[in-house]
Order: sequence, then C-alpha cells, then structure tokens
Amino acid sequence: MTARTLELIDHGRYPLHDLASDAGRRFVDDARLTFSREGLIALEGFLRPGTTRRIVHHALSDERQGGHRFSGTSDVFFHTEAGEDRQTGLAYTKTDVPYDRISPLSPVRALYQWDLLLDFITAVVGGPVHRSADPLGAAVVQIQRDGDQQDWHFDISEYSVLLHARAPESGGVLQYALRSRDRVRRDPDAFRRITAEDPAAPLRHLPTASGTLVLHAGSVSMHRVTPVRGRTPRINATLTFNSKPGQTLNEYTRRLHFGRDH
Ligand SMILES: [Fe+2]
Repeated sequence: MTARTLELIDHGRYPLHDLASDAGRRFVDDARLTFSREGLIALEGFLRPGTTRRIVHHALSDERQGGHRFSGTSDVFFHTEAGEDRQTGLAYTKTDVPYDRISPLSPVRALYQWDLLLDFITAVVGGPVHRSADPLGAAVVQIQRDGDQQDWHFDISEYSVLLHARAPESGGVLQYALRSRDRVRRDPDAFRRITAEDPAAPLRHLPTASGTLVLHAGSVSMHRVTPVRGRTPRINATLTFNSKPGQTLNEYTRRLHFGRDH
C-alpha cells in the first residue's frame, strides 16, 4: 500500500518517504517555517496528474451515489464557543461527499490512511497528529458548482489537508484571516472587518490549483472559499487531523454538512 501510495505523489519533488535525508530535512524545515509564518503551506504539483484525474472521476460518481447538497447559514464557530452564534448572513452552498460515501478506490482514502503523510504533518506542525475519528467528516470531498461558496468559519478540526483536484474557471479562492480566532471571539468589530474585507485587516488568498496539497490550521484562522464561477466545478478533498486521538465533529456540524448525524 505504501509503495503504491507513494506513486500518487511527485515524490521526487516532495520526498515524504525520505524525510531523514538532507533533501528531506530541508523540505520539512522550509515547510515548518512557512507554516508558522503564513498559517498554511501549499505544495504545488504534489499530486500527479493521474491522481487528480482519479480523484475527480470518483468525486463525480460518489456525488451521484451519496453526495449531500446543502444550502444554509451557520455559526462561524460551529457551536464550539459557548453562548456564541455568530453568523455572516451569507449562505453555504455546495455538495459534500462524506467519508463513508467516498469510494474505496479513490486516492483520497489511500492518502488519508497513508502513514508517511501523517509523519510529514507531524514534522511540520511540531507536535502529535492523529486522524479524526468522525465517521462522516474525517475526510470529505467537496464539489462546488457555479455560484457555490463556503461561508466564513473556523474548522472544528485543528489541521486540515486540502487536496485540490480540479480548479474552477474563476473564484474558488481560499481567503483566510491569520490566527483570528481570539480576535473574532472578543471583538464583533474585528469580525465585521474581516467579513467586509476591510483593507485595514488584510486577508490572505490562495487560489485553487489542480494538484496542490494545502495544510492549514483552520480552527484558528477564520476562512472561506469565494463563490465559484463558470461551468467547471471546483473539486477538493479535505482530510482532517487533531493533536488528540479520537476527536470528532459535533452533531450540529454533521447535520449541517451531511444532513444526518451518523
Ligand atoms: Fe474549513
């Protein structure tokens, strides 16, 4: 499994199998520095073209079999902050394929279960990392068509790996406010400035690019995905991780994203 999984990625450029080598150490050191400075890393061309093609193929067939289409508003904290129900007034619109409906043949599953990817994330974040125990949200494939967007939110999981499989014609940009959780919780004005894209509170931007792996700490940096435009859907897989084992989403979030709790 591991040798075959390695072939899903450009391991010449990204030596996940050889992190102890000089090249491997340099790669991790760079990634760690960028992660601490920017709150995320984006590895362009991480997935081989054949891998993104297979992810897209399975995403579209899994969407037909088990995708959950939803539209609705949400608390940006997903009810993880007592007494808070802070909403932007925008709607989420997208289709999610929950973990239990992702084909066993999709590279998304092999990559999520791959220990070398877990070792790499552990080295970058500098602490223990475990896969989520959530039956539906551990890994999710998202399909966003013309007009679809993800509203502003903080992830429940500490770390997310995004696998960009297909870029839309335009839009579908990940916008985030670096380490904004405490600010947003304390200060309604900080929240308003971020969601209004006030130039005084600059946001960081990451467009979708097929083949890119993104690692980000989505529970501390409020983020959204801007509306997708055009006939080509944005297709992305999100793999989630936490510093403690056995972590799951809450019922509110499962019902919002998947329309069911189990
Ligand atoms: Fe997120």
